[in-house]
Amino acid sequence: MLVLGLESSCDETGVALVEVGSGNGPAASGTSVPASSRLLAHTLHSQIALHRAYGGVVPELASRDHIRRVVPLLREALARSGKALAEVDAVAYTQGPGLAGALLVGCAFAEALATALGKPVVPVHHLEGHLLSPLLSTDAPTFPFVALLVSGGHTQLMRVDGVGRYTLLGETLDDAAGEAFDKTAKLLGLPYPGGPALARLAEDGRPDQVALPRPMLHSDDLNFSFAGLKTAVLTRVRDMGGERGELDDAQRADLARGFQDAIVEVLVKKSLKALKQTGLNRLVVAGGVGANRQLRAMLDEAARRRRLRVHYPELEFCTDNGAMIALAGALRLAADAGAARPAGTFAVRPRWPLAELMSPAD
Ligand code: KG4
Ligand code: ZN
Repeated sequence: MLVLGLESSCDETGVALVEVGSGNGPAASGTSVPASSRLLAHTLHSQIALHRAYGGVVPELASRDHIRRVVPLLREALARSGKALAEVDAVAYTQGPGLAGALLVGCAFAEALATALGKPVVPVHHLEGHLLSPLLSTDAPTFPFVALLVSGGHTQLMRVDGVGRYTLLGETLDDAAGEAFDKTAKLLGLPYPGGPALARLAEDGRPDQVALPRPMLHSDDLNFSFAGLKTAVLTRVRDMGGERGELDDAQRADLARGFQDAIVEVLVKKSLKALKQTGLNRLVVAGGVGANRQLRAMLDEAARRRRLRVHYPELEFCTDNGAMIALAGALRLAADAGAARPAGTFAVRPRWPLAELMSPAD
């Protein structure tokens, strides 16, 4: 079965083709992804350059750019896969959550294409794409595992027992980790997208120069809160900037390092706590912040000491992409043919609670 996947929920247009064996059911506990699931090709266009001048994503510009990019990206993905459009068995696309206009581009395109092909569609939850993205890796994890989902819009710890079998363990009560990175980067005068820029600056900073709070580090639950951390940085910027509020490069680097140390420590400690609580020994990190090198280094170190396994998607699959949507759609279909529905309904879900996706382990 050949599944075409489309991602357009925010500022990346992604198209991919995944082939999956039908009828082999969901990957059971202790097994990996269905052996025959294979990414044939994926293409991606990032709008970073388009939005940079505005310091953030401009929804209307994002929608228009998705329209411009989707057809050439599809042509290129087909060419790379060696497949023809007529061979596609189902079209998966991100139905939500995300920017309404941006989602509508992918939805309208997928529904129209599937209608023309006479094939069904599989609407996919963007976060399920992120959750399953580590399965695209050459070093794919087996079920069950704990997933740390850290993106621009979400910060969640989930227990994943199989495709469609998710339990929420904890989540952020306010800002997402990526959002905290982006907002703090803005405070430090860094260009959009702030997360990677702040991470680079932090590499020049000295540890222990700027002490910042570790929000909810010792709370009994597995929840997070990052809004206060950003406010603490703002206070320190004012304190350190003197009368004119200006920081020199070394001060900015120390602040970036202090911020990154704080947020990474909280993410690592809570992930370890989730593993302990669930009794599992596999952690999967997904979402854009999963690209952070300090986070990876600290998790790897903790894993070595405790005999745990940490899996990361390849960097290109950490941030938004079409491959994870095609894979999520393909795995849903392989597990349950009822996951597909006839094409022709134009409905997106900009706010789609993850809870609706959950059917935890029995
Ligand atoms: O998963 P993603 O591409 O999009 C969402 O679904 O949100 O994540 C984007 C987020 C942004 O907030 C970005 O600043 C952050 O991931 N990010 C990073 C790094 N690379 C991307 N944050 C920290 N360190 C990085 N290296
Ligand atoms: Zn995402």
